[in-house]
Amino acid sequence: MRIHTYEKLWLAGSFVLIVGFIVTITYGSVGLGITMIDDEANTVTPDEIGSDDRFSDPRVEQVGEDEYEVYVVAMTFIFQPDPIEVPASSEVTFYVTSRDVIHGFEVAGTNINSMAIPGQVAELTVEFDEPGTYGIVCNEYCGPQHHTMEGSLVVTP
Ligand code: CUA
Repeated sequence: MRIHTYEKLWLAGSFVLIVGFIVTITYGSVGLGITMIDDEANTVTPDEIGSDDRFSDPRVEQVGEDEYEVYVVAMTFIFQPDPIEVPASSEVTFYVTSRDVIHGFEVAGTNINSMAIPGQVAELTVEFDEPGTYGIVCNEYCGPQHHTMEGSLVVTP
């Protein structure tokens, strides 16, 4: 009788665990859905770049005393804006997308390196300590003029 009771408890416990797993998976997916909404903010339909608040006018925007946002559009075979000008010792967040095919966005001599993927917005936040001019290169093969695709980043004092 005692053993039977333990068996029942054990079964009940297993059942609770199974339900728990199902709930975790279900609500886990809902959680994932919420994350996806956040991801969606980091997408842009290439056809709609022309009417997108962020990318229709590729630019450097000051958003705080020492904070800048840079909206970069890569396309065959240029980067916009070019040059990119930001002051030294400020926090700079790059948002990078592509209008056509996959490009690279690499600031030579730094660890800034990202792919520029049509439909997606890559986000990188950096701070430049030293004023200077840096080359921006495309490091993903994107077509016959790939090797000429470059821009520049000017960090002003
Ligand atoms: Cu763009 Cu290679």
